Amino acid sequence: MDGRASGRHIEVHGSSLSLRPATFGFSEAELQRRYQWSLDNELQYWSGTIPGGRSYADFVENVSYRDWPSDGRRISYGIVTREGELIGMVSCYNIEQMLVTGHMVGELGVYLGEKTYWGSGYGTEAVTLFLRHLFEQLDFDAVYLHTYKSNIRARRSYERVGFELDEERRRYSPRVGYHDELRMSITRTRFNQLHGLQVATS
Ligand SMILES: CC(C)(COP(=O)(O)OP(=O)(O)OC[C@H]1O[C@@H](n2cnc3c(N)ncnc32)[C@H](O)[C@@H]1OP(=O)(O)O)[C@@H](O)C(=O)NCCC(=O)NCCS
Repeated sequence: MDGRASGRHIEVHGSSLSLRPATFGFSEAELQRRYQWSLDNELQYWSGTIPGGRSYADFVENVSYRDWPSDGRRISYGIVTREGELIGMVSCYNIEQMLVTGHMVGELGVYLGEKTYWGSGYGTEAVTLFLRHLFEQLDFDAVYLHTYKSNIRARRSYERVGFELDEERRRYSPRVGYHDELRMSITRTRFNQLHGLQVATS
């Protein structure tokens, strides 16, 4: 899949927010905002890896490749309110094309960098919109994610979207030490059953 070449990467509109492909670019103020997010320990704790850098200049130099590398293995979208404010990012990475069906599978990552927006439904709406885009326009068949068992807010949101638990594992990472990690996933068929898709499922 060549994400850059495909004209299907479009801005996606929901009732209270939009998803804007990172390939559309970011204003200077938005880049500054994203860099500040990368410096926030609480955000980094829950999210894992929000792109940052040794300096703001280093961040700006590398961020477009990190958002949307030319190998098409990651696609990233800014989460933008109706008023035009960038409040977070949602992405799909480790994108692979399945041999038998030719459909795509990938891993979801999401965060609201503006913490005042947490717990108000924006994350759930962003993920639902994003999955609809992946399943309807980008030929995805399934999407999975990993989250800490302790991340109740994220888990509740993912469950509401329709993600189901695949497995639970005890893991270690230098950042958080020993912790329980959950793998959750959702198929195009399940998303269609719960939310309805405007294209036929196969
Ligand atoms: C995870 C995240 C994207 C979810 O977005 P959000 O807009 O905050 O989530 P929503 O408001 O849509 O849904 C949150 C759910 O948790 C509940 N909730 C809200 N605050 C909570 C809290 N402090 N503790 C537990 N549950 C909480 C909400 O009631 C809601 O559940 P409900 O729909 O059953 O009522 C966002 O919180 C975030 O960016 N967190 C930090 C980064 C992160 O954890 N990313 C995910 C990594 S896997």
